[in-house]
Formats: sequence, C-alpha cells, structure tokens
Amino acid sequence: MTNVAILGFGVVGSGVAKLITDNKNEVSKLGGDDINIKYILDLRDFPSSPFADKVIHDFDTILNDPEIDTVMEVMGGSHPAYEYTMALLKAGKNVITSNKEVVANFGDEFLLTAKERGVSYRFEAAVGGGIPVLSPIINCIGQNKVLEVRGILNGTTNYILTEMFTKGKSFASALSDAQEKGYAERNPDADVLGTDACRKIAILTALVSGKLIPTDSIHTEGIVNIRESDVAAAEAFGCTIKLVGRGIVGEDKPLALVSPFLIPKDMPLSQVAGVYNAVEVIAEPLGNVMFYGQGAGAGATASAVVGDLMQVMCSGTHCHAPVFTKFADVIDSAALTSCFYLAFDKNDREKVSAVFEGAKTVENGTEIAVLTAAMSGKEISEKLSANSLSPLSRIRCIF
Ligand code: HSE
Repeated sequence: MTNVAILGFGVVGSGVAKLITDNKNEVSKLGGDDINIKYILDLRDFPSSPFADKVIHDFDTILNDPEIDTVMEVMGGSHPAYEYTMALLKAGKNVITSNKEVVANFGDEFLLTAKERGVSYRFEAAVGGGIPVLSPIINCIGQNKVLEVRGILNGTTNYILTEMFTKGKSFASALSDAQEKGYAERNPDADVLGTDACRKIAILTALVSGKLIPTDSIHTEGIVNIRESDVAAAEAFGCTIKLVGRGIVGEDKPLALVSPFLIPKDMPLSQVAGVYNAVEVIAEPLGNVMFYGQGAGAGATASAVVGDLMQVMCSGTHCHAPVFTKFADVIDSAALTSCFYLAFDKNDREKVSAVFEGAKTVENGTEIAVLTAAMSGKEISEKLSANSLSPLSRIRCIF
C-alpha cells in the first residue's frame, strides 16, 4: 500500500481524489501497488464529501508522517506552496504538482533540491493540463536539437478568440460568455493578460534549453486589445489570431515571448479551437511534433497529476526533469523577425501604400490593413516612427 497526501481540495485536488478512487484498478495495475489517500490538507472542511475523514488542517502532520513518501501539491499560488514543497523535498518526500506559478518561479530550486535528496519533483499537469507533453519532451525528444517550443497554452483565451472568430463576438462579450461557462475566473487577468501562458512558456523553454527565464523577463502581451476589425482583417488574409507562447532556444541565449499571432488557417496551430491547448516542438532531426488536448479541468488535470504519481511509483527516485537554472540574460523579443499585421485608419492609405509598397492589403470598413514583409520588431518600430505612422493594431504573424 502506497500512502499519499494531497495539498489542496479545490477543483484539481478533488479531481485527483476522485480519479484515484474511481479508477482504483487501473491505478493499482499501472503503479504496481494500491494507493491510500491518507491526508487531504485544506483550510476548509468538507463534511458532505466522501473524503471528509481525510481532511486535515495541519501541514506538519504530513511532513512528519514517515508513511507518506509522495505528496501532490495542487493548491496553486507561490506561497505557501513554495515553503511546503521545499520542506517536503528536504524531508525526502517526492512532490508532484499542477501549480505552474510555483514551478515557473522556483522550479530550478525544487529540481536541484530533489536531485540532492534523491527524490522526485514532477509537474506534468503544470503545462497543457491533461496533455502528456512534458514527459515526452524529456524522455522521447531530448536526443534532438530543439529549436523552438511553442503553443496555445491557455484555454480561456483560446475559447474567447474562437468565439470572436466563429460567432463574431467582441472581446468583452466573449469574455463574459467564458465567465458564465466557468472557463474564465471572475478576475480573468491572469488569462487575458497572458500571465498564465507566460508561466507555461517559461517552464517549456526551461525544459528544452536548461534555462529558466524569470517571468518578468518574458515579453507578455494578452488579447485584450484585439478588436472585431482585427478579426475581420485576419479572416480576409486567410488567417486566425491565437495567443501563442514561443520559446526559441538560440545558440547561447533563449528568447521567449507570449503574444497574439496571426496564423494561416492551413497551419495545425490555427485549428486548435475552444478551450483546447496544443504544444508544438520543432527539433532536428525530428521535425515538427504537436501535442493536443484539454488544457484544463478537473479530470484532465487530475490525469496528469496521477500520471506523475504512476511514474514515481514505477520508476522510483531521480524520476524528474533534468535540473535547469535561472537565466535572465535573454534575447530581447524586439529582435525576433516576423511578418506583421498592421491596421491603419483609411486616411493614411497613401502613406501606407508608399511605406509598405508591394505588401498585401485589405480595406476593412474605415481601416486599411497590411501584411508586411518579415522584419524585426525594432525595424518595424523604426519604420513606423520614421514615417509618423501610428497603427491601430500591430500583431506578429507566424508564416
Ligand atoms: N486558466 C487556465 C486556462 C487554466 O484557461 O488555460 C489551466 O491552466
């Protein structure tokens, strides 16, 4: 019998307890042992839950119980998740988490401590929810030279953008619909401003480059400024708009950013709709590989957490990602070369045609939209400024 504890009994924690209980046979078979949820730590009581008798309020009970050798931290947030995780690893216990914030901020420290103590620290559920993506990147792709990892990493924003494109909704109306359906939080800032995707691309970039970029060094733009006229222009150019996290490995320094991108409709990433996530790895000699599935939700996220538990039970200690280190000396995202979508007031038509001669344009109500040739962010800023042009929108493209 393997005794485990769960820290946090919210959506993910209750999903983990339910999966371990409902799929008892599958879990025992794969893990090679029965699992007993001995403790669930939460501030609250859950008298009507079938797990009510497991709920405790004192973390030290778990820390000091020698029968507990693996703990699943599904509380979210940096604190006290950081302190609990560090204490557990130092006490020689394996830790599994779905908490992208704590991994993005402190994953380097946890992995080093786990290595030193001979235990596991695993975080499959922190990126892409139920999609098995981190384990394949570590275990199946590591022999390749990874050039880039990129993806649609936030289901809420992808739902909002999908509604804007397929139903003609404004950002505000699609957001309120996402809130009504329970996808977006009442305070949706972490999703719509790109913070959640930023944490996830920090983790993915660390896995493929060995360098954990502090999230405040990652250029992060959300989707709040995407207008209905941008959607119409993107459609006219045969594209959709997606919030994409990109981690480009580079020779010495990585480059990571999160921002909306125009993507042609024949590229696989553009087909990822609704709350679904996708992660694409571009590597040599492998080529492009894409992982696709449900990036959030109790069942999907619990699947990834319990999948990590199975790995710990089957593979023993030292079963985690290679150690990565904090690295803030990154390439400025303005150096990234891409085509740009720019929207201007129609009154600027003549100037726009002269400055972007030969570029594809569409006229769209009171606006004129352009797809530029490939250039860096710095070059486009200089060009616009030299010609006193102020675009209404400026969005990079992935072609
Ligand atoms: N808020 C996140 C999303 C949840 O919408 O994708 C999963 O990390």
